[in-house]
Amino acid sequence: MLIIKVGATDSTNLHLKRTMAETELQDFTVLTADEQHKGRGQAGRQWISEPGKNLTFSVLKYFEKQEASQGFLISKAVSLALVEAFRGLGIPGLSVKWPNDIMSGSKKICGILIENTLKGSRLAHSVIGIGINVNQSDFQGLPHASSLSLTTGIVYDLDSVLDLVLQSLEKNLVNIDRHQARKIHEVYDHMLFARDKKADFRIGGEVVSGIIRGVSREGKLILDRDGQRETYALKEIAFLL
Ligand code: BTN
Repeated sequence: MLIIKVGATDSTNLHLKRTMAETELQDFTVLTADEQHKGRGQAGRQWISEPGKNLTFSVLKYFEKQEASQGFLISKAVSLALVEAFRGLGIPGLSVKWPNDIMSGSKKICGILIENTLKGSRLAHSVIGIGINVNQSDFQGLPHASSLSLTTGIVYDLDSVLDLVLQSLEKNLVNIDRHQARKIHEVYDHMLFARDKKADFRIGGEVVSGIIRGVSREGKLILDRDGQRETYALKEIAFLL
């Protein structure tokens, strides 16, 4: 595993992709930054993180046998690797809010942005961007955000947390075969935030209530609406929590 550390950059995902275009990088190259001035989140949002207090890094992972349609399997495996690492740190109330926000109770402690590159019908590689709120204690204007430190009262050594997370990621991402895939889908559903609970969502401009039953193999949210099973892609639905 090669770890490249930089002080400040625009976004570790962008920086890693630029480096890849210039030079051949080995599998599982990690690029980590103390500070991002253009941190990117899901759905075109920004990722804001207090410099020096948190982890912001990206991991390059090559694939040989993964079908492009399995892209969400990788996303599930990454979420579960983070849950496993956080469990090792004793973080309470862990769950995964679809598609891949890692939660402690009702607060988000970690966000993931995966950018996949396809080669024909196969997944060639993924740039897995991860932002972990580690020691930040002030989240003004972000009522649903928290950090590892706020949930346990411990101030963490950033390098040790990075180490633990990278080990867990490496373990969870090697040789995902069919047997492991089944297990990943099962455990991911088990870890789902608000699963089997009635919740409100915005669907096509309307507020509707439903019960989350799971996430399909393609990554769609499976909702029970008055006994009727419906599936939704990320752009079609928003949580109202
Ligand atoms: C989200 O929850 O919206 C995803 C946030 C992902 C943030 C990480 S920080 C490291 C990497 N570089 C980026 O620009 N984004 C990801």
